Amino acid sequence: MENRSSFTINNLEKYFRQYRRSVRAPRKFWSEIAQNYEWMSPWEKVLEYDMNDANFSWFIGGKLNITQNALDRHISIRPDKTAILFEPNDPNEKAQAISYTELLSRVNQLANVLKKEGIQKGDRVCIYLPMIPELAISVLACARIGAIHSVVFAGFSSSAVAARIQDATCKMVITSDGGYRGNKTINLKGIIDEALISCPTIEKVLVFRRTNEPVNMVPGRDLEAAQLLEQASNHCEPTIMDAEDPLFILYTSGSTGKPKGMVHTTGGYMVYTGFTFKNVFQYQEEDIFWCTADIGWITGHSYLLYGALLNGATTVMFEGIPSYPDFGRFWEIIDKHQITHLYTAPTAIRSLAKESLSWVEKHDLSSLKVLGSVGEPINEEAWHWYDDHIGHKSCPIVDTWWQTETGGILISPLPFVTPTKPTYATLPLPGVQPALVDDKGNEIEGNRKSGNLCITFPWPSIARTIWGDHQRYKDTYFKAYPGKYFTGDGALRDEVGYYRITGRVDDIVIVSGHNLGTAPIEDAINEHPSVAESALVGFPHDVKGNALYGFIILKDEAVQTDYEQLKKEINQHVSDHIGPIAKLDKIQFVSGLPKTRSGKIMRRILRKIAEGDFSNFGDISTLLNPEIVEEIVKGVQ
Ligand code: WT7
Repeated sequence: MENRSSFTINNLEKYFRQYRRSVRAPRKFWSEIAQNYEWMSPWEKVLEYDMNDANFSWFIGGKLNITQNALDRHISIRPDKTAILFEPNDPNEKAQAISYTELLSRVNQLANVLKKEGIQKGDRVCIYLPMIPELAISVLACARIGAIHSVVFAGFSSSAVAARIQDATCKMVITSDGGYRGNKTINLKGIIDEALISCPTIEKVLVFRRTNEPVNMVPGRDLEAAQLLEQASNHCEPTIMDAEDPLFILYTSGSTGKPKGMVHTTGGYMVYTGFTFKNVFQYQEEDIFWCTADIGWITGHSYLLYGALLNGATTVMFEGIPSYPDFGRFWEIIDKHQITHLYTAPTAIRSLAKESLSWVEKHDLSSLKVLGSVGEPINEEAWHWYDDHIGHKSCPIVDTWWQTETGGILISPLPFVTPTKPTYATLPLPGVQPALVDDKGNEIEGNRKSGNLCITFPWPSIARTIWGDHQRYKDTYFKAYPGKYFTGDGALRDEVGYYRITGRVDDIVIVSGHNLGTAPIEDAINEHPSVAESALVGFPHDVKGNALYGFIILKDEAVQTDYEQLKKEINQHVSDHIGPIAKLDKIQFVSGLPKTRSGKIMRRILRKIAEGDFSNFGDISTLLNPEIVEEIVKGVQ
């Protein structure tokens, strides 16, 4: 970014000034920010919106291609600068530095292959790859030609991938033979083969090689990426996109039903992720930025990839896991690559804080300047451990609150600008207008208050819809509190107006930073032949933040009486249907569930039991079967 004065907010007074401007005159504010990018033709109108119908258009009529801004624009300024620094799973394998020039060339080659194989603007391409450079290149190649990418995290099971491919009616899958994670090798192509049995819209499967293990190649459908790339030109004109053309679909869990394909569009997403990357990390030209999230999640899309490249940054892509080959891996990588910015999740911090400090102390972390946290509330202990032992009290921690739906960070300190406060995401970024609302929908004014967190005005990267189901988009986010976007989170506002996110107020549980809807997991459990009914709740867990607790009613005719075996089977079932991340930590077989007269499970009671708090269940007189509560408690004790 060219550091025009409005773009970089580097002191607190400027933050407040820009914030006030962004609220008073949002159109003027955002059009100034948007001018820092290259547009093929300018927009005619900055914003049109309707919070009740959930319609948002930003930079209307503007034409652009996001890859021109993320790649081509840097070639004249920083052609040889490393764009992607790839650190393999195996520390003995050489790291790879891919320059902006090389990245553009590889993106163009792949874009030409996609075109040759019939992919056109607007077609959906599913990307199911491990954290290797080809993943980033595939995403950018889609964007180059206007194909809508739908990245599915490579830890999802074949039925979860199939459901996502079907929902978006994808035409192509890009995958690899396999992938490495710690000491495991995962057969990704095998998972795709199984998924594709039920995906008739897929015409071609493009296969990259990573593990070089033999895979089944279906003639006419499956293509060797390397062969096609060899013949492809490295020149490809960026397709002209309308600001509101979809850039990607990314699935997130719903509290009910199937996953929601959140749709993000081109112009607003580019403007917002570029702007927030620059400010939330105060990125400087020589910095090395490491976001540990997988590109399969929104954090990887917005900050590992797009936000970083839009700013001409060097962004690190790590294939492995924090515990392989040992618990010093993160710290070794920081030392090795002289990383200045570490952006990771509280669950990773907690899991590493549990291990001996000697893993940290072996490595020189003095290159670090800024630490980031994302994905779930960070508890006080983890915050201080991060601050003391990783930042040595001289690296500000940016606790960034946002969602797949928001496209970019909405509430966060700016490092060296906003005084931080442990466990607080602090202040809204410019253009973001938060509100706390009570259960009746009344806005809660003033400080030292808590409530349901809503946003009252659109920002450029707000999701535009749920793929194929605008009604569900409206119902999920805009119905509870008319005129406002409801986040699903609870928050409190302290005496100076800082926000602290207290957690989900709906049936979504965040386990190790992964957003899991309880209903789809219950559906999977209920498909087990011995299960009659189930109810899942989250409970606090030292490392994962939350873990899942399942209360399960078995069928009368369930023949299986080896309960431990049954628990294993149920978890295997969950793993097959959703993925290993959704496995239950605790299972309790019960004879009934606390239900209201209208048949609704009273989850509030189950949450208390799961937390181990059996004291105060509040009013249970509206229950149809109050006696069941005592029975379940006895079962735990
Ligand atoms: C949910 C969104 C957006 C990045 C990855 C997660 C929780 C996210 C924080 C934070 C407290 C946080 C919220 C939110 N969350 N960041 N800094 N403090 N909670 O994206 O999978 O769409 O999950 O993650 O509950 O609603 P996601």
